[in-house]
Amino acid sequence: MFSKGTYEQLPAHNGSTTKTRHWKTKRVCVILLVFFTLGIGLHGTRFTHSFLGTGRCSRYNSSTGEDLPKHYTLPSGDKIPSVALGLWKAGKNEVGRAVQTAVKSGYQHLDGAWIYGNEAEVGAALKQTDTPREDIWLTSKLWNSFHDPDDVESALDESLSRLGTDYLDLYLIHWPLALNKDGSVYNQELTDDPYPTWKKLEELVDKGKIRNIGVSNFNIRRIQNLTANPLKYPPAVNQVEINFWFPQPELLAWSKEYGILLEAYSPLGGDGRVGETLSVPVVKEIAAELDITPAQVINSWHVQRGTVVLPKSVTPCRVEENLHITKLPDELFEKLETAALLHEPKRGVNPSKGWGIDFDIFD
Ligand SMILES: NC(=O)c1ccc[n+]([C@@H]2O[C@H](COP(=O)([O-])OP(=O)(O)OC[C@H]3O[C@@H](n4cnc5c(N)ncnc54)[C@H](OP(=O)(O)O)[C@@H]3O)[C@@H](O)[C@H]2O)c1
Ligand SMILES: *[C@@H]1O[C@H](CO)[C@@H](O)[C@H](O)[C@H]1NC(C)=O
Ligand SMILES: *[C@@H]1O[C@H](CO)[C@@H](O)[C@H](O)[C@H]1NC(C)=O
Repeated sequence: MFSKGTYEQLPAHNGSTTKTRHWKTKRVCVILLVFFTLGIGLHGTRFTHSFLGTGRCSRYNSSTGEDLPKHYTLPSGDKIPSVALGLWKAGKNEVGRAVQTAVKSGYQHLDGAWIYGNEAEVGAALKQTDTPREDIWLTSKLWNSFHDPDDVESALDESLSRLGTDYLDLYLIHWPLALNKDGSVYNQELTDDPYPTWKKLEELVDKGKIRNIGVSNFNIRRIQNLTANPLKYPPAVNQVEINFWFPQPELLAWSKEYGILLEAYSPLGGDGRVGETLSVPVVKEIAAELDITPAQVINSWHVQRGTVVLPKSVTPCRVEENLHITKLPDELFEKLETAALLHEPKRGVNPSKGWGIDFDIFD
């Protein structure tokens, strides 16, 4: 169990819903209209979406009557839930509430990382929900500056203590980049050959601190390089960007063949493109036809393709909306798949330049 803590300052998750019920005056309608107009003018649909998102979700529980897998089974035998709450950019004083909303709505999977800087608030929120530890799948990620085998365990311990647990369900190498100990760019040897880091992770599995290990942002070449070693535990998961704009069909097919589960990050396109994703005509058409929301169409598509989906939201109503996925009828699924493959693929996330490395992290 996450032991019970005293974190009473976290607001109740339905606070905003109660508030909106009193908003029934004409004055508010005018304000809304102004907001929408401004929103479209200033930031496109994203602003409007995020404003709407603080209200009530109307159709979060619609279904086509056919279920998608609730979880996938990893080589360890562990069952990883197919939908997770993403925790990147879930900020101070909002991430705890999002976690509480998620757990109350039925989420059993949280996708975090040391670098997100919010593991303590996540841990505190989990404690408050009083959920048995084994009912929640916790993922964290080893940051780039801790790839040296001597640094791996202390980095993991820090995540564990912040989260308030003594094991992780899944620990990923966050990026195929080993920074030097002082944080400077970069340790080429350990970047080109992450096997020493991996061996340390295997040790921590045997020690009982991690149940499954995997990678993130690895391409096929890098995975093949790692798995060419005599691994005790091959990578169970590769977490990569997958969305309508960057659907990664080759990596998906290859990963299925080699038994590596993909997790789709920025599944809605990320915060810069979510509005655009949810306005794609075919997405809206399918949503209307099935009476589900555009976000539910996208989240369902991901799981139907065989990946874990990691939508991030700190908006209570969206958190709940994103959990409800449903099987798209084959012809609608194919229609969406075709549309996603039709345009030029375009990544949303590539920090290579920002890190100042002399190569592209995805090459
Ligand atoms: N391994 C890696 O290197 C890596 C990189 C990127 C992401 N990730 C993981 O993937 C997760 C998700 O990726 P992401 O945060 O980049 O992008 P995302 O989940 O595709 O998009 C998040 C954005 O969509 C909005 N949103 C969420 N649900 C919505 C809905 N139902 N309707 C309308 N808008 C909605 C969110 O707004 P609000 O929050 O304001 O509601 C936020 O602005 C991250 O949190 C992280 O766990 C991992
Ligand atoms: C969703 O709807 C189904 C059937 O209409 C119902 O059985 C289920 O309890 C509902 N779930 C939630 C979370 O409301
Ligand atoms: C992985 O790549 C590095 C760098 O090219 C190389 O030194 C190492 O031997 C490779 N590992 C295996 C097992 O092939």
